[in-house]
Amino acid sequence: MTKNHQPSYNIYFERDNIPNALTCMNTYGYCVIRGMINQEMVEALKDSIDETLDPKRDMPENSNRYHLAFAEVSKPLRKLVEHAPYMNFMHQLLGSKNLCLHRSATILRTAGEPIGTWHTDSRAHVKIPKIASDLLNCHGLPSGAWFYLNGSHPDSSGIAVIENSHAPNWEGPEGFKLTSDQRSFHPIGEADDVVYKSIDVPGCIAVIADPGDLICFADRTYHTNMATHERRYSCAIMFRPKSIKIDEWPLPSSAQKMIAEMPEHLKGYTEGYTGYDEKWRADT
Ligand SMILES: [Fe+2]
Repeated sequence: MTKNHQPSYNIYFERDNIPNALTCMNTYGYCVIRGMINQEMVEALKDSIDETLDPKRDMPENSNRYHLAFAEVSKPLRKLVEHAPYMNFMHQLLGSKNLCLHRSATILRTAGEPIGTWHTDSRAHVKIPKIASDLLNCHGLPSGAWFYLNGSHPDSSGIAVIENSHAPNWEGPEGFKLTSDQRSFHPIGEADDVVYKSIDVPGCIAVIADPGDLICFADRTYHTNMATHERRYSCAIMFRPKSIKIDEWPLPSSAQKMIAEMPEHLKGYTEGYTGYDEKWRADT
């Protein structure tokens, strides 16, 4: 398995062909939708990420910063709520038009960051959610619909996924075993808490995509960020069907501010929005 391993099947779809893109995601665990947003939006999102995460442009090399409710502070990200092709994708992905904002995020990385730890974002297997992320990610919703605004490529960085790892009976790549919390995996014979950070894993696909493409993966798909060789921007805005109710914590003031700023015709998308309370802990 090389770091440039590519699939033998098509993973690229145009944004007017969402049904086939979703078939690919459901079959292999991931897909790429070409040109979901234009270059102007890519640039506006990058500027917004700089302003939010590195306003003084003093971020050191080999580091990262993130924001876990980026829609609350980024008007360019919120523009996606009115972006017909993106919302059409969301309607088909979630099988509903009655959606509310679920969660949003951005990550900024600088050159020198090594590959991340292989992991799944899904918490569908967690019986008792303990923190906000457990609660928001336990509904089986596809957790990956990310814009890699520099594109994605093993030579510069981006995302790598493990094909077919979304399947409910997947127990880890050949020669590996899932960790006891199922968040990651480790070579068979090594300790449960060994953090495995090599790209050299059976089934690994180094996703290649352009800026403006939307990289999607299923709820469980195991993935990691590849080693970073340049300043890199990514962001996401996810919705959920309003039928899934979440109201464990009071609405943070930053969320209230965003809702107040939302134009009247979009306020429906904020009904059910929880914001992200990093400090919330389940009352066990
Ligand atoms: Fe992740």
